[in-house]
Amino acid sequence: MRSHYCGQLNASHIGQTVELNGWVHHRRDHGGVIFIDLRDREGLAQIVLVPETTEIFKLAEQVRNEYVLRINGAVRRRPEGTENPELPSGAIEILVSNLEILNRSDPIPLPLDEHTQKISEDVRLRYRYLDLRRTEMQNHLITRANIVQFLRRFLDDKGFLDIETPMLTKSTPEGARDYLVPSRTHLGQFFALPQSPQLFKQLLMIAGMDRYYQIVRCFRDEDLRADRQPEFTQLDVETSFMDEQDITNLMETMIRQLFMAILGIELPNPFPRLTYAEAMQRFGSDRPDLRIALELVDIKDLMVEVKFKVFSTPANDPKGRVVVLRLPQGNSLLSRKEIDDYTKFVGIYGAKGLAYIKINAWNSKGRDGLQSPILKFLPDTAIEGIMQRTGAEDGDLLFFGADQASIVNEAMGALRVRLGQDLKLLKDQWCPLWVVDFPMFEWDKSAHRWSALHHPFTAPKLENTDSHGKLLGDLSNMLSRAYDLVLNGSEIGGGSIRIHQEELQRQVFNLLGISESEAEEKFGFLLQALKYGCPPHGGIAFGLDRLVMLMTHSTSIRDVIAFPKTQTAACLLTSAPSAVNPKQLEELGLRVHLRTTTTTKSLSN
Ligand code: AMO
Ligand code: AMP
Repeated sequence: MRSHYCGQLNASHIGQTVELNGWVHHRRDHGGVIFIDLRDREGLAQIVLVPETTEIFKLAEQVRNEYVLRINGAVRRRPEGTENPELPSGAIEILVSNLEILNRSDPIPLPLDEHTQKISEDVRLRYRYLDLRRTEMQNHLITRANIVQFLRRFLDDKGFLDIETPMLTKSTPEGARDYLVPSRTHLGQFFALPQSPQLFKQLLMIAGMDRYYQIVRCFRDEDLRADRQPEFTQLDVETSFMDEQDITNLMETMIRQLFMAILGIELPNPFPRLTYAEAMQRFGSDRPDLRIALELVDIKDLMVEVKFKVFSTPANDPKGRVVVLRLPQGNSLLSRKEIDDYTKFVGIYGAKGLAYIKINAWNSKGRDGLQSPILKFLPDTAIEGIMQRTGAEDGDLLFFGADQASIVNEAMGALRVRLGQDLKLLKDQWCPLWVVDFPMFEWDKSAHRWSALHHPFTAPKLENTDSHGKLLGDLSNMLSRAYDLVLNGSEIGGGSIRIHQEELQRQVFNLLGISESEAEEKFGFLLQALKYGCPPHGGIAFGLDRLVMLMTHSTSIRDVIAFPKTQTAACLLTSAPSAVNPKQLEELGLRVHLRTTTTTKSLSN
């Protein structure tokens, strides 16, 4: 049916007779000659119809955009001056000797030549099959397929087994709401779609599979953002008898080779490592974007005695934090109005204000060369300390954050990234890093209890347990054996060494406020399995969509998924979710009782 793809033809095919299938991208009539750009997955080729071939020329006159054609013809060099250097097939054209219209097309509702960002996303999603005809989207999906192929090959070569795990299962606590599926054969009972295959992959280690991987769909009913989807794909990995060094080394080799194979880019070797504590301290975030050189500088100790309550209160609170963010030459970069806008911006994260000092002429005038509404509250020693620690110079702008540490980290961490993006301070580099030594637990204020920072199956650092594997010490300081892979400010993977002793697992459930009976009911199968010779094991899961998003320079996760959901977790193409037949509900023993709130399926950002 086809001798070549359109986009694969070039000058080396001159003189050959070819058969092509494709869509009409453009048709131009030029003084009795018809030119058609014929398009397929691999690109465009120009086909030419001349009036001498009367029958097929007449047929060609009927042809409109997006008609599906099959043609035969001879490849020839384009006349001088009509070549298109932008196209791989731009040196040649095909003189058509036979043409068949395989199908017609209505005029299509979205332009295929526009950049993604210029077309309404609602329209793109409603007509996704047309949107996917665009070169940009085709390239995304081709790159995605190449990435998956590479990852599979790498893991296959290293002896990993691709094993499937159930989609209809029991809830696994990864921190989001579950998608539930009612059971017809067990009325009133529900499956949960997996938030991840976490427990099954651990059971596979107990089963002796040693090295497992799966490219697997996960489902999480959570608030969506530009890099989150309700169903997304993980590259999920688990290994036995490897420690965190072994696992992170192997995984970073995989990612380094992936970038070389797909993008020809050399990532650092080794990837830098930061402890969670250091990441929070320097960047206010556990997924710092290291392309931005700005850092938070602690000045809590300098503010203990100042007369400015905004600073001295958190400075005297063990949970408080006071930091400066120095923006080199910020005086000329930001207007007063922009500073006000950034003050509003940090407000989103709970900051009550954004104090600043402009360094106009510190070198020549000392404190008289500074400008700020808060200057009057700060004694010389405090100012000198600030200047010294930040290394500030004339022309710089200093921003201050003072509050509970969690608020300061969120607000100033976000400000750092926002400034980096707005002022184009991002280095043109790929900056991967491992974040390690995460706290084991965090205090959940609303639930008044500890929760697991990673998930409840993550092992504590060895120094937190006694020789019988019992947890020791203060929960708030306890560190876990978890690690995250961060790339350019995005968390692309996370994993840990797992608890492999039943007693310790029970103890952790207990500390998390999960009662014995609840633990039995929810995780009895795991606790049981841990009794039968569970090997030490650990693993990781990568967010495949996020990885592809970064590697294709996409701004939305939706642009690397063939059929994504909207921001409100709906599918505009199929109109899912939708009401179901009352008979189906009856079989399931369910009745819908609607609350008055309604949701809309459109794409509200
Ligand atoms: P975690 O919950 O960190 O770990 O998920 C692993 C990676 O999956 C990606 N990710 C998402 N991508 C798109 N949309 C979402 N809603 C979404 N949620 C997460 C992120 C994240 O780093 N079972 C553990 C892994 C393990 O311990 O081995 C887990 O699921 O890139
Ligand atoms: P005020 O005394 O509230 O007018 O604040 C004086 C300056 O401190 C203003 O620039 C505020 O934006 C700033 N400010 C107020 N609260 C905070 C805070 N928690 N952290 C940093 N700056 C603040």
